[in-house]
Amino acid sequence: MINYFFTRSDLRCLALTACIGLSALSTSAQSKTVSDFTPGAEWFDTKGEIINAHGGGVIYDNGKYYWFGEKRGRHASEGVNVYSSTDLYNWQYESLALAQDKDTTSDITVGCVMERPKVIYNPATKKYVMWFHLELKGKGYSAARAGVAVSDKVTGPFRFVRSFRPNGNMSRDMTLFVDKDGSAYHIYSSRENYDLRIAKLTKDFLDVTAEDKMLFSNHREAPAVFQQDGKYYMITSGCTGWAPNKAVLHTATSVWGPWEASKVNPMSGPGADTTFGGQSTYILPVRAKNNAYIFLADRWNPRNLKDSRHLWLPIRFRDGLPIVEWADKWTLDNF
Ligand code: DGJ
Repeated sequence: MINYFFTRSDLRCLALTACIGLSALSTSAQSKTVSDFTPGAEWFDTKGEIINAHGGGVIYDNGKYYWFGEKRGRHASEGVNVYSSTDLYNWQYESLALAQDKDTTSDITVGCVMERPKVIYNPATKKYVMWFHLELKGKGYSAARAGVAVSDKVTGPFRFVRSFRPNGNMSRDMTLFVDKDGSAYHIYSSRENYDLRIAKLTKDFLDVTAEDKMLFSNHREAPAVFQQDGKYYMITSGCTGWAPNKAVLHTATSVWGPWEASKVNPMSGPGADTTFGGQSTYILPVRAKNNAYIFLADRWNPRNLKDSRHLWLPIRFRDGLPIVEWADKWTLDNF
């Protein structure tokens, strides 16, 4: 016979678990229209499911924004999700844009790690091109490769092309950047994350050219870049795994540098010294607004990566430098 004996604290625990269970049930059924940004809260898609898109980026295409990001289980990497929106507040789930492969010989076989996916459009080939950080199954973070995938449709499915180390260099955290002249660049943490490098992409955006340069060697990752009025701005994080740290802003007059580190913390408000508990992933220009940019970051939850929270915050210019100010709630009217 089994004896059930509960202490007072067990009972409290059970009650709490029941509450959490109930709230989990109710959260997956929420599908209300959203009209503001609430950094750090749970964000749901139009069907009421938690938005599972981390370390990602957003592109604008034919009247809609598309948000690509890592699909995560508690820990596992499960491919790349894409969501769409016309207003940046309400996101509709579109698809698993890039799935992992059941074929165990594939570089992206189930169990690999796909991080920081970014998508850009190539007007010459009329294809959408995705780059991401790929770690091979069972090899920790030692492969340090860039992965490339391509699609005819923005919502995919993307076809995996290949993975490699750009010009032989390790490649972990990364972003893509398209300059005013249409040239595209892969900006990536290299040499065990000590160097931040840039490589110009080939005309079809599917490979790197030999134009590849070290930008600075400050042990930085999570690069997010934007350009305004001929000035280039890059926000990066330090390298402390999933734990947050202080962001640094670099500025330049060409994407090739020289990039100068600013002494001013680009984050402002409570929690600024730890990037509000988050880590940069992308800087999004807002359509139909002049000089309006949104800073995108992830507040990682390493116990349950799927529940990592989205920190989207407005960028303002103060004394000629972009500043990300904390707000519990904000709207696009803030610009
Ligand atoms: C920090 C990186 O920015 C993330 O994308 C992820 O690779 C974690 N490190 C893993 O610890």
